[in-house]
Amino acid sequence: MKIPRKITLCAGSACWAKGNQQNLRVLEAFLAEHPGCCAVRLEGCRCQNLCLNGPVILVDGQRLTNVTPQWLQQWLRQLPDSPQEVAP
Ligand code: FES
Repeated sequence: MKIPRKITLCAGSACWAKGNQQNLRVLEAFLAEHPGCCAVRLEGCRCQNLCLNGPVILVDGQRLTNVTPQWLQQWLRQLPDSPQEVAP
């Protein structure tokens, strides 16, 4: 699995209310517990005009929709524990 470099959370009001506030906590907790995992930069962004499909996050620019905290936790668990574990 490719290690993400940048994860951007839509900080628009719809996505925030629908779960990105919790998604931010999930991401921060994961990164605190796995400091060697990935040099991910967390950012916020304005509304992506996909409010009906929110919460929206962008992983290296790729938009993911309907991202629940549960899905995000499962996705994060699939990341390698360290960059050395990534296949070339
Ligand atoms: S608030 Fe996130 S897409 Fe509109």
